[in-house]
Amino acid sequence: MTSPDRRLLRLGVNIDHVATIRNARGGLHPDPVRAAIVAAEAGADGLTVHLREDRRHITDTDLTRLSEATALPINLEMAATDEMLNIALRERPHAACIVPERRAERTTEGGLDAAGLHNSLAPIVRQLRDNGSRVSLFIAPDAAQLHAAAALGAPVVELHTGPYSHAEGAAVAIELERLQAMATLGARLGLEVHAGHGLTFDNVGPVAAMPEIAELNIGHFLIGEAVFIGLAEAIRQMRAHMDAARA
Ligand code: PXP
Repeated sequence: MTSPDRRLLRLGVNIDHVATIRNARGGLHPDPVRAAIVAAEAGADGLTVHLREDRRHITDTDLTRLSEATALPINLEMAATDEMLNIALRERPHAACIVPERRAERTTEGGLDAAGLHNSLAPIVRQLRDNGSRVSLFIAPDAAQLHAAAALGAPVVELHTGPYSHAEGAAVAIELERLQAMATLGARLGLEVHAGHGLTFDNVGPVAAMPEIAELNIGHFLIGEAVFIGLAEAIRQMRAHMDAARA
């Protein structure tokens, strides 16, 4: 049974890498839609998918099938391009998270330059909002980027936890302090604060404990762990780590 308190911190499960495995053989298995159904049963609060320019994860068809097959809110990660904007306007996901995208990168490497790209992002944010999607900007935990996101009228920011999750030694505390300070600033600016990237059972606790953070988006670790303990169990254990940190 889900307690209302627990829902103060939502878990968005990123199922991209189920599609990555499927795509490795070019067939239909494993199906990200099946993963979405398992995730819903295991207690995920939402699904996150990144429709990349090269379609290396989910495809356009997956996105449509996911919307039809699950009642969970979908958070569509998207580059700020005309192609992705048109797809997002057509599919009208619950949330649209604008991310920087480079074809050669293995995963989203840095945050969006919301400050430097204000003029090109402004019409995209406005159109997505007007179309009913909750717009989120995936940014580095940096004060200038938070102010820029607020100036763009984005209701949500997702703080990039990659530098924290890759940090070692004394740098871990520094990155955590930075995340906490920027989560506090985000809340003060009236932004809903999410976080994600590189989170695991071992490092999720201190981020989940930050009271301003409303949602964590977690993918690669969960899908990797699913190989050993199953997807439902990986999600349940992640949820338990998050709840323990919040308690
Ligand atoms: N949030 C955003 C914006 C991302 O781009 C990703 C990776 O696709 C994630 C969260 C999830 O990161 P990870 O797969 O490392 O858990």
